[in-house]
Amino acid sequence: MSFDDISDSNSSLQIRWLIRRDMPEVLAIEQESFEHAWTEEEFLCILRQQNCIGMVAEIDHEIVGFMIYELHKSNLHVLNFAVAKQYRRKGVGTQMVDRLVDKLSLQRRKEILLEVRERNLAAQMFFKDLDFMAVTVLRNHYDDTCEDAYIMRYQLQKVPALALYSPKNRISAYYDAYDADAA
Ligand SMILES: CC(C)(COP(=O)(O)OP(=O)(O)OC[C@H]1O[C@@H](n2cnc3c(N)ncnc32)[C@H](O)[C@@H]1OP(=O)(O)O)[C@@H](O)C(=O)NCCC(=O)NCCS
Repeated sequence: MSFDDISDSNSSLQIRWLIRRDMPEVLAIEQESFEHAWTEEEFLCILRQQNCIGMVAEIDHEIVGFMIYELHKSNLHVLNFAVAKQYRRKGVGTQMVDRLVDKLSLQRRKEILLEVRERNLAAQMFFKDLDFMAVTVLRNHYDDTCEDAYIMRYQLQKVPALALYSPKNRISAYYDAYDADAA
C-alpha cells in the first residue's frame, strides 16, 4: 500500500512536533525497530537540548513514526528515526524526510547528515532512494557492537536556471506544435 492508499482510506498523515504525551507510542516504535533501543531517559535527555527537535507522523491520532534531529549551523543531523513496522513501505518515512528537506535552505542549512549501521541495509536503501549518499565510514562506531557506521548525506542542490525558465518564441512554439503533430 502506498501513501495514496492511506489517503484514499479516509486517513491522512499528519506531521507535527513531538510532545511529552507521545512518548509511550514513540518508545513502542523504538523498541520494535532497534536491537539497541534508546530508553525513555535517553530520549528526554536529548530532547532537553536546545538545538534538538522531535517530530512525529500520525494517522488517525495514532503515532506511526518519529524523528529526532539536531539543528546545526550548516546542517540538520538526524539522531533517531523509525516508522512503526505495520506502516512501513507505505511512504510514511519518505513524507517525514521530505518535511526535513523542506527545512533546508541554500543560504543556511544546506544538508542533512545521519549515521546508518553497516548491517541496516533497509535504511541504506531507503536513504539512497531519497538521494542521500554514503560519504564516510566510521570504523567501530558503536559501543554495543563492532559495526561500522556509514555517514549518509543529502545536499540541497541549486535548481539550474534553465530548468525553471525555458524561453518561448514563435519559432520554438511552431516546432513544439510540429513535434506534437508528428507524435
Ligand atoms: C527506514 C524506514 C524509516 C523507512 O520507512 P518507510 O516508511 O518504510 O519508507 P517508505 O515507505 O517511505 O520507503 C520509500 C522507499 O525506500 C525504499 N525502502 C524502504 N524500506 C526498504 C526495505 N526494507 N528494503 C528495500 N528498500 C526499502 C524503497 O525504495 C521504498 O519504496 P517502495 O516501497 O515503493 O519500494 C523504516 O524501514 C524503519 O523504521 N526501519 C527501522 C528503523 C531504522 O532503520 N531507522 C533508520 C535509522 S538510520
